[in-house]
Amino acid sequence: MTGDMEHPIEGTDRTRALQAVSYATNVLSKAGMPSARVDAEILASHVLGVPRGRLALIDGFTAAKLGEFDALVARRAAGEPVQHLVGSAGFRHLDLAVGPGVFVPRPETELLAGWAITLITPGTTVVDLCAGSGAIALAVAGEVPGARVYAVERSPAALPWLRRNAEARAAAGDTPIHVVEGDVTDPAVLADLDGTVDAVLCNPPYVPAGAPVPADVADHDPRDAVFAGADGLAVIRPVIGRAAALLRPGGVFAVEHDDSQGVAVPALLRADSRFTDIEDHHDLAGRPRYATAVHVADCTP
Ligand SMILES: C[S@@+](CC[C@H](N)C(=O)[O-])C[C@H]1O[C@@H](n2cnc3c(N)ncnc32)[C@H](O)[C@@H]1O
Repeated sequence: MTGDMEHPIEGTDRTRALQAVSYATNVLSKAGMPSARVDAEILASHVLGVPRGRLALIDGFTAAKLGEFDALVARRAAGEPVQHLVGSAGFRHLDLAVGPGVFVPRPETELLAGWAITLITPGTTVVDLCAGSGAIALAVAGEVPGARVYAVERSPAALPWLRRNAEARAAAGDTPIHVVEGDVTDPAVLADLDGTVDAVLCNPPYVPAGAPVPADVADHDPRDAVFAGADGLAVIRPVIGRAAALLRPGGVFAVEHDDSQGVAVPALLRADSRFTDIEDHHDLAGRPRYATAVHVADCTP
């Protein structure tokens, strides 16, 4: 392990895991990682093949496992996302495969998915626009029995992750989802579903170009997954139109946005006469995070 701290457990064959985790926590804190302890525990449980909650109960690392752990901690200290290091990210009940080329799903998006899952009834049709790893689409497929779920994604780098996660969840017994390669702003994509969809859900890229982002986002999340034009609304604007076209009367729409867009995105929805019941929702940190709307019963587009 690199750094100016002497490794307290170097050379031992078996060491209690928590000692190594404490040491790694110090290394990661010094490197400026905000969730140093959690990251150290996730990496230790990955190397040892035990759940995080059991780390205190096991003997610890062999010398070989300790070397593996140290190498992962050094990569985390250098800025690699912990989810890339272990190859997966948790999202609601799911464990999704992630790595370079696909956006790592974030906890705040679980709120949008949860909002939708409480409203969507079994057997209905749901479209996830900007699907990435499949987080929202697969959460719905896993939690709403018999939902017919479509997941649209454009990125050639993200699509293999989406397909892999979709196959894994289907093999685990969830209702298979339909993966659609396409541009969510293209009216031809899923045009055969226009006017029939019960819920359209979307976590698009929404950061204004040039806005400062944390180093792990800048270095490891795909740019197309994060940035969307000068005001960050370059994807949200056309997605609102596509959602309005896809939805049946009474169907629901939810779209995540930047915390600076809590006024702008509801205003865009209000400007489209096909939407009513427009609300903005906050994340657990109290920041504006996603907007929701209902397709009106009768309207002229
Ligand atoms: C912020 S990520 C969200 C991924 C996933 N829904 C989640 O919540 O983790 C946005 C995704 O939209 C995709 N994307 C961006 N522009 C797109 C477009 N015009 N058409 C289809 N997908 C697009 C990106 O490749 C990326 O996977």
